[in-house]
Amino acid sequence: MFGREDHARRVDQAHQLRQLMASSGGVPAAKRGHVIAVTSGKGGVGKTLLAANLSIALAARGHRVALFDMDMGLANADIVLGVEVAWTWRDVLAGRRSLDEVIIHGPGGITLVAGASGVSQMANLSEFERHQLIAIAGQAAELNDVVVFDCGAGISHNVVSIASFADTILVVTTPEPTSVTDAYAMIKAFAQEQGRSRYTEAAAMGVLVNLAESRREGRDTYERLAGVAARFLHIPVTDYGYILRDEHVSAAVRQRCPVVLRYPRCSASSCLMASAGRLSRELGRAEEQQSLFYRVMNMFL
Ligand SMILES: Nc1ncnc2c1ncn2[C@@H]1O[C@H](COP(=O)(O)OP(=O)(O)O)[C@@H](O)[C@H]1O
Ligand SMILES: [Mg+2]
Repeated sequence: MFGREDHARRVDQAHQLRQLMASSGGVPAAKRGHVIAVTSGKGGVGKTLLAANLSIALAARGHRVALFDMDMGLANADIVLGVEVAWTWRDVLAGRRSLDEVIIHGPGGITLVAGASGVSQMANLSEFERHQLIAIAGQAAELNDVVVFDCGAGISHNVVSIASFADTILVVTTPEPTSVTDAYAMIKAFAQEQGRSRYTEAAAMGVLVNLAESRREGRDTYERLAGVAARFLHIPVTDYGYILRDEHVSAAVRQRCPVVLRYPRCSASSCLMASAGRLSRELGRAEEQQSLFYRVMNMFL
């Protein structure tokens, strides 16, 4: 049915596909959960709050979700979730505990892999530790549909290289010009890192605007950032919506309870649910593409 050349090409393609499988740790990518890295240029813009609440909102949509606290300096996702931490991923790195032992069951059906913070933990990870950490995150991704990284802020090597492992990088900004400028610098750093990254294909870049005073301000902020990224970096940046400034957010933080669970009807929670809806639709699309990829691949193998 096929000519000799056709056959040789098919064998070659099958070989390439097997190599691709091997390079993903022997685990077909279709079986790995989607990794979303939440990061920002400037600190204190609401990353932890959004990462924790989006995780819960995604779990409410039926996804198995793990939140992974990747902030090396200010690991505090446990505070927002209101859970007690006994062990962190640093214990897995040190060989004291297995991933199973450090997983914490959090509110809303999500799990948390906590991080350690403090001055002594601030030092950059060595290249070897970074590989180990990414391998641990890969393990978490095999156990879940979605893994959300709560990353630190700023263009440090740790943040950029770990977030580059993600399938989707969600850059959080506020409408303030300083925050938007820093978010742009972050997007640029990712664009440069992706040229070098050995872990993944280029991640999809997205923006989430926090602390917006109005829908209009949220939209304008996204347009400004996406506009400069398209013009100067030629990168498409997806709009994941905006979260309104809402006093229920800090009230919930003070009660150590995620706002989407404590005040599900407040304006910030409605915005968070809408953003989770957009993310969930993206995940569905990525899954469809993967399953098509595997159907095609099975024809070759
Ligand atoms: N949409 C919002 N409305 C009101 N306050 C907010 C909102 N988002 C964040 N905050 C406040 O900002 C604080 C810092 O947020 P956090 O998630 O810890 O920032 P980051 O992780 O970026 O350092 C929160 O504890 C909360 O009190
Ligand atoms: Mg934080």
